Amino acid sequence: MDRILSGIKPTGSLTLGNYIGALKHFKDFQDQGEVFIFIADLHALTLPIDPEVLRENSRDIACFYLASGLDPKKTTIFLQSQVPQHAELNAILQNYLYMGELKRMTQFKDKCSKMNDSAIGLGIFAYPSLMASDILLYDANKVPVGEDQVQHVELARDLVNRFNHRYGDILTLPKAEVTKIGKRIMSLSDPSKKMSKSDPKGDIFLKDDPAVIRKKIMSAKTDSGSEVSYDVENKPGISNLLTIYGAMKDISPEEAAKLFTNSRYGDFKKEVANAVLEELIPFQERYQKIKESGEYLSVLKEGAQKARDVASVILKKVQHAVGLLDE
Ligand code: TYM
Repeated sequence: MDRILSGIKPTGSLTLGNYIGALKHFKDFQDQGEVFIFIADLHALTLPIDPEVLRENSRDIACFYLASGLDPKKTTIFLQSQVPQHAELNAILQNYLYMGELKRMTQFKDKCSKMNDSAIGLGIFAYPSLMASDILLYDANKVPVGEDQVQHVELARDLVNRFNHRYGDILTLPKAEVTKIGKRIMSLSDPSKKMSKSDPKGDIFLKDDPAVIRKKIMSAKTDSGSEVSYDVENKPGISNLLTIYGAMKDISPEEAAKLFTNSRYGDFKKEVANAVLEELIPFQERYQKIKESGEYLSVLKEGAQKARDVASVILKKVQHAVGLLDE
């Protein structure tokens, strides 16, 4: 049976990129196997963050998970920090990753290339080690993520091969599951950049007011020319909007382009906004209800208990394999 695991870091308000690249798909795995979806709050500490903001973001993600259709009876939903085995496995596995590999990680380079070494925390550098531990702790073979996280999953695979070569068949080899449509949603203000939680201008936030979402889409940067066509190189802005439309309607951006061959940019954008709002408004309403009811609190509590039970099994195996005394 498949074991599926993924997580989202509560560093900022979630974006349409997080939704299309990851969140929206988690529920699709619920009938394929055992699903573990968590809030990566320890990862959120790798860059400075206000404690209250972190707590509020964590609550929000729990509610977003439930609003996206994750069913706590089928999916274990939990906070990373409430399962100490993540940190314990990390303490062991970090010894099987090397400085050279970590220095090559794109996310690390993007976040830290302009920072002075004396300002870069150890946690952000060692980030992929904790992320590998998150995955390997649950014997996950499938890891649904957006494109920007694939490199980290690949590193987790290298770690598994290295570890198993030395100690036997202990860890499960994970594979990134990347969505066909929307694995990399770009910024609306600069389609050469990824849409990210830290870019208020080019982002659509899942909590944005519908009127704001419409306005952001209507003023998204488009390209020269006037024809709606899918051409990532020459029409990155329009292609990004076609991808967003396609993700909402479950069709490829090429198919989406065919629907708008005779449309002007303005009319096309209106349709993109309609498609996004058709999906996000009911999602926001579900989120609001869940947040107000407080039901997510018991979900997290029960989820952490289940996660700890599963995680302690593989942790014990690893501890034994490397030679820690367990009698
Ligand atoms: P995070 O919180 O940055 O992003 C959560 C998920 O959203 C995807 N994503 C995108 N997809 C498409 N277009 C975009 N513009 C976009 N921006 C973000 C990400 O690829 C991700 O799937 N390191 C992870 C959290 C994590 C994790 C894990 C994930 C920690 N441990 C173990 C899987 C397994 C992160 O920072 O995601």
